Amino acid sequence: MDLSLKGKRVLVTGGSRGIGASICKSFAAMGADVIVNFASNQKAAEKVVQAATKEGVKAIKIQADVSDYKQVRKMFKKIISEFGGLDVLVNNAGITRDKLLLRMNSEDWEKVIATNLTSVYNCCREAAKIFVKQRSGKIINISSVVGLHGNMGQANYSASKAGIIGFSKSLAKELASRNVAVNVIAPGFIETDMTDDLPEKATATLFKQIPLGRPGKPEEVAHLAVFLASNNADYITGQVISVDGGMFM
Ligand SMILES: NC(=O)c1ccc[n+]([C@@H]2O[C@H](COP(=O)([O-])OP(=O)(O)OC[C@H]3O[C@@H](n4cnc5c(N)ncnc54)[C@H](OP(=O)(O)O)[C@@H]3O)[C@@H](O)[C@H]2O)c1
Repeated sequence: MDLSLKGKRVLVTGGSRGIGASICKSFAAMGADVIVNFASNQKAAEKVVQAATKEGVKAIKIQADVSDYKQVRKMFKKIISEFGGLDVLVNNAGITRDKLLLRMNSEDWEKVIATNLTSVYNCCREAAKIFVKQRSGKIINISSVVGLHGNMGQANYSASKAGIIGFSKSLAKELASRNVAVNVIAPGFIETDMTDDLPEKATATLFKQIPLGRPGKPEEVAHLAVFLASNNADYITGQVISVDGGMFM
């Protein structure tokens, strides 16, 4: 099995930290050129660019709030002018604003839906224009185990992540005849900044729900993204694949 991604041009949204940073580095290690999108953390994005460049590939960072269609369009223009096109899109950018529903205001709802779900529409729409023309492309959307079974205090986040699943299955059907695959990765509890500030008691309870008994590492999600982007996954589309230590089965 050849997992080489040599010559592939990959955009990873939220590529500056956590799972996204690990996806950027894993893609670069397999020979892909990488576009590292970030919201505000320029230093972290630059570190990822430097790590990718060490693998001998081309890598750049682009600041863009992916919830804003105008900024996404500008980012794609830059990608086309610098890379001449795109082969893989990984929609990974995401945030949480956890609160019980009665304490969740409209801003908490709208910010999470815009960042986690509208961003996927924005980036997929721009990428689809390229992929349909070239009759090839892979889209990998990062959902969550919480999008599959819900979670107390995460109604906004769960809705955004469940929305990604419905959106991706519809898009997989729309784009299949153009040789474009759309798949979803649903991570469980992965050690990143996002899960870092959870109280110890909450994490201990969470770990009890993981059959493998430990949190996941960002690389364990990245490895599946590499496989889904490779030619080995050409016959896989419209699927939701969990990387969660058995949490959801
Ligand atoms: N960690 C987990 O346990 C877990 C589990 C299931 C699913 N996920 C999902 O996996 C993805 C990555 O999570 P993570 O844990 O790696 O998160 P993280 O460490 O908090 O990193 C989030 C990334 O998203 C970027 N970002 C946030 N808002 C953005 C915006 N509006 N536009 C562009 N980029 C934006 C951040 O950029 P800056 O660095 O510039 O802020 C950062 O690169 C998310 O979609 C998350 O929901 C995570």
